[in-house]
Amino acid sequence: MPLVTTTEMFKKAYDGGYAIGAFNVNNMEIVQGITEACREEKAPVILQVSKGARAYANHTYLVKLVEAAVIECPEIPIALHLDHGPDFETCKACIDGGFTSVMIDASSKPFAENIEITKKVVEYAHDHGVVVEAELGTLAGIEDDVKVAAHAASYTRPEEVEEFVSKTGCDSLAIAIGTSHGAYKFTAAQCTRNEKGILVPPPLRFDVLEEVSRRLPGFPIVLHGSSSVPQNYVKLINENGGKMPDAVGIPEEQLRHAAELSVCKINIDSDLRLAMTGTIREFFNEHPDKFDPREYLKPARANIKELVRHKLVDVLGCAGKA
Ligand code: G3H
Ligand code: 13P
Ligand code: ZN
Repeated sequence: MPLVTTTEMFKKAYDGGYAIGAFNVNNMEIVQGITEACREEKAPVILQVSKGARAYANHTYLVKLVEAAVIECPEIPIALHLDHGPDFETCKACIDGGFTSVMIDASSKPFAENIEITKKVVEYAHDHGVVVEAELGTLAGIEDDVKVAAHAASYTRPEEVEEFVSKTGCDSLAIAIGTSHGAYKFTAAQCTRNEKGILVPPPLRFDVLEEVSRRLPGFPIVLHGSSSVPQNYVKLINENGGKMPDAVGIPEEQLRHAAELSVCKINIDSDLRLAMTGTIREFFNEHPDKFDPREYLKPARANIKELVRHKLVDVLGCAGKA
């Protein structure tokens, strides 16, 4: 089937109590690792491209890689989404350039300005058969070149969501309930330590999510910053020359719970980066004489695939839903 929008995916996910995985793509091996897992697990998927990915790999290369995945995986629905669109022009370029979904992220702007910018993108997108994700609230962490300190982050205010959605006409809404971008989501001071000495982050604000959902029945909610920062990969990186102290993510059982509620899209990027980096570091440590990129990218791609499979089956609940 051709590239799809997220409309049908989200309706089924909402009704079925699961979420669609939205994985960031930057090169061929990442596209292949994700979509091979989705094909084998019969899972619908969102492949998303950030401003940084477009700057790194070029719009056309990324679109063509995703189109290749669509040809290789004809039996699963695949959406191509712009992640954190910074302005109308970038959204327009992606709408005109083959994407089926865009995010306009004006969450750092005042409420009225966020509405105005989002509405403009929605009008253009809907005229071209493309759907729009918007954001209310501010996540901590690093997105593209923007770093938001924990103290500057703010939870979504549920009392604003009805006005925002009705005035903008957006198709899904990213909210801030305590997730955060990157591999260093929380400072040690924000966490407690469990019996193994691993940092345990503060729990997600399910009260905020539930109040948002009560006010927007049937409406798809999105969680950004939802990597769980697998400790086996942090360890692998640190054992092979890396230095990632106190990297900690969102516990997977909390994401599973969110997927059972109104959360229909869960964004995961950092976990794939950790899998790729850990695998390559280990390979170089074990084979200092090797220099063929295919030899180290092959196991990296295989580990991305297995990590995505785990997310589909054990966290998102979307395996078998294609
Ligand atoms: O939220 C941001 C995504 O993880 C994309 O990251 O801007 O480094 O491509 P990037
Ligand atoms: P992570 O950094 O937690 O993977 O979040 C990715 C994300 O939200 C992309 O928009
Ligand atoms: Zn994000």
